[in-house]
Amino acid sequence: MTLQPLLDRIEHQARHYFGQGRVADYIPALAQVPAARFGMAICTTEGELYRCGDADEPFSIQSISKAFTLAMAQQRYGDELWRRVGKEPSGNAFNSLVQLEFEQGIPRNPFINAGALVVVDALYSRLSAPVHAVLEAMRLRAGNGVIRIDHKVADSEYEHRFRNAAMANLMKSFGNFHNEVDEVLRAYFSYCALSMSCVDLARAFGFLANGGRCVMTGEAWLPRLQTQQLNALLFTSGLYDAAGDFAYRVGMPAKSGVGGGIVAVVPGRFSVCVWSPELNSYGNSVAGIWALEELSRALDLRLF
Ligand code: DON
Repeated sequence: MTLQPLLDRIEHQARHYFGQGRVADYIPALAQVPAARFGMAICTTEGELYRCGDADEPFSIQSISKAFTLAMAQQRYGDELWRRVGKEPSGNAFNSLVQLEFEQGIPRNPFINAGALVVVDALYSRLSAPVHAVLEAMRLRAGNGVIRIDHKVADSEYEHRFRNAAMANLMKSFGNFHNEVDEVLRAYFSYCALSMSCVDLARAFGFLANGGRCVMTGEAWLPRLQTQQLNALLFTSGLYDAAGDFAYRVGMPAKSGVGGGIVAVVPGRFSVCVWSPELNSYGNSVAGIWALEELSRALDLRLF
């Protein structure tokens, strides 16, 4: 079955949502991104690709990187990782600090910033060249050797690092942060600043739809059980304090980023990435969420 006519219709209708959100403006490098953009790409487990709109235009992947670094940490630590980070939805904003002290420096889940920082800290302890290793792993999974880190974005994040630095330092005071805070922040910001298109991301996260097997290389990249566990966490926490609404409306495991991208998965069938930079008050793409809801409705994709 071809998905192209459906994608073309969604692209056409998604443009009606332009003007209903706000482009991330917490750093100048993101505030400059043109608002009126929409792209979507689907990569099936057979490796077929469907795309529409601005699907080939690179954007800042931001928190979508957290799902990738989590997979890399799962590979290296297995269940041991869950001593340092929880598996529960936080019900708070992705950059909130309030729970962290009450819960003795153990972040609620690996997708809020505190949790992602612990995951990157863990990864940092096991990789000899942490930035290069993640970049290369991403290039391989996406089948695109020219994916790059936008250093302007990474540097700008670092200049505005104070809230993330506060979380990392608080976790260090509880013994849950092992490396130099500044070094880990630099690595974390480099991952967030990866510049990738919808096509790149749909391909790179194909392993989530494919039982852990990379769609581009055929390699068994993440064990099946860990892939299922990662999808479960994406379902409950991938969209932060809007995860419940997203599950209700769309019903897929997904990860959003403040660059306006969302990666979502239909296990056994396909991975999809949608991008539109205007965000709602939870930091999730307005047109992106609508497009995934429409895709889910049209193909009757809900799990339940
Ligand atoms: O840590 C930050 O603030 C950003 N680099 C990532 C934030 C983000 O994408 C949150 N997701 N919606």
